[in-house]
Amino acid sequence: MKVFNKIKDTKDYITSIKNQSFSLGFIPTMGALHQGHLSLIEKASRENDITICSIFVNPIQFNNKEDFDKYPVQSGKDIEILEGAGCDMVFIPSVAEMYPEPVNELNDFGLLDQVMEGASRAGHFNGVVIVVKRFFEIMRPDKAYFGEKDFQQLQIIRHFVKTNNIPVEIVSCPIIREADGLAMSSRNVRLSPEERKIAPQIYRTLQKCSYFSSTLSVQQVRSLFLKEISVFSEFRIDYFEIADETNMQPISNWSESKNPRAFVAVFLGNVRLIDNIKIIL
Ligand code: PAJ
Repeated sequence: MKVFNKIKDTKDYITSIKNQSFSLGFIPTMGALHQGHLSLIEKASRENDITICSIFVNPIQFNNKEDFDKYPVQSGKDIEILEGAGCDMVFIPSVAEMYPEPVNELNDFGLLDQVMEGASRAGHFNGVVIVVKRFFEIMRPDKAYFGEKDFQQLQIIRHFVKTNNIPVEIVSCPIIREADGLAMSSRNVRLSPEERKIAPQIYRTLQKCSYFSSTLSVQQVRSLFLKEISVFSEFRIDYFEIADETNMQPISNWSESKNPRAFVAVFLGNVRLIDNIKIIL
């Protein structure tokens, strides 16, 4: 596996791949890799001749300095994991390499980023899209892989690519969970043993909401979630919404969406966890 830190080396490698007419699958990550990331890499390897990744903890998408400072970094281990997963090249740039000049670009995502993660984390999606766009310019992938764990991110990137005519196919991948249901996340390692024990309640409760949604109103499902989660005083709810999975706008009546999905963000101690579930009525 090739490991590059410089844009120039990465671009030269991509040009040589393109000259062979090989198809390119790309997975952007912030490292601290787990099975969730690996599922994207496995899918990309099946669907493309060459699979490439990036590892970059993108400072401009963090609205909370502590979250950025504490974001787990394990480059050596990540390189081994990628090698084992059959990745062909990884690009691990420094902040100076990615952002030689101050960044002041502002993107408009319509209503997509006015809710949930966008509302809670000011500037987050702007930072995500700036870095993903730069990676696309460097890597020129045929397909790029994103997890449904970050569902709003996935929809915002789809929207951005479409409105800017960027020639890349966005492929979505299902959420990978621990055996007890907790959605895999690089941030899970920051949970204390006690917090880790109750963290699976988030998904248990989402499953309950999905199961009972056919007999309850949107409001009642909301109340069910809030009531069940508040049994555990360790949780602090940031938001719980039922929204249409295409336009991401919260609904108050099932008739407002053909594809509703429940979205949640909760704090457990200092760690912010997100999850979502499709609602089948
Ligand atoms: P990161 O959190 O490292 O996630 C990289 C990719 O892995 C994202 O597409 C994310 O949705 C996916 N992923 C993470 N956990 C997953 C799980 N349990 N199941 C399935 N997919 C999972 O998302 C980012 O990084 C950044 O915002 C990035 C896109 C790299 C831009 O900086």
